[in-house]
Amino acid sequence: MKRLAIFASGTGSNFQVIAEAIRSGSIRAELVLLVCDKPDAAVIEKAEWLHIPAFVAEPKRFETKQVYEKAVLAALEEAQVDFVVLAGYMRLIGPTLLQAYGGRIINIHPSLLPSFPGLHAIEQAFAAGVKVTGITIHFVDDGMDTGPIIAQEAVKLSRGETIESLTDKIHHLEHTLYPRVIAELLNEE
Ligand code: GRF
Repeated sequence: MKRLAIFASGTGSNFQVIAEAIRSGSIRAELVLLVCDKPDAAVIEKAEWLHIPAFVAEPKRFETKQVYEKAVLAALEEAQVDFVVLAGYMRLIGPTLLQAYGGRIINIHPSLLPSFPGLHAIEQAFAAGVKVTGITIHFVDDGMDTGPIIAQEAVKLSRGETIESLTDKIHHLEHTLYPRVIAELLNEE
C-alpha cells in the first residue's frame, strides 16, 4: 500500500474527505503525515482528531526556502512517504521537493486550468463573468498550477450566483472528485 502525505495550509476539508476515504477503504493507501506551513491552520486539529502525525513548520523560520524544503523532505523520508497530495497548500513546491518526489505530487485547483491559475481562482473566474468554471486535478511541476492535467470537472454558474454559492459548489465537487482520482491513481498500482 502506498504511504501518503497531505500538504495543507488552511481549513482542511479536502484533507478530511481524503482521510475518510482512506479509513473507509475506498482509497487503498495509508495516510502517514500532514505537512502544514501555518501553525494556526484548522487542518492541524483535524489531523489530531484523526491521529495523523503532523509536521508543522513555518517557512519564514528557516534561512531559505531550500532549507525549509530539506526539513520537509527529511520528514517525508522518515515517514517513508511514496506519494504527496496537495490540498490547499498555499506555496509553490521548489526544486528540493520536486527532485525527490517529481511525478508523485498532485494538486487540486479551483478553476478549469489553464484559466485562472494562482490565488483566488474562484473570485478571478467570478469577476471575469464566465458562465462555466470548475476544478482541476494535476501533477505538480515547477510552475504555478501548470503541470499535466489528470482530471477536470465543470461547474455552471446559475443566474443570481454569488461568490459564496459558487464557492460552495466548487468545494462540494472537490470533495467527491479528489478522493475518486486519488483512488484511481493509487488503487491500480
Ligand atoms: C480548495 O478550494 C483547493 O482547491 C484550493 O484550496 C482550497 C482548500 O480547501 N487549492 P480546504 O483547506 O481543503 O478546505
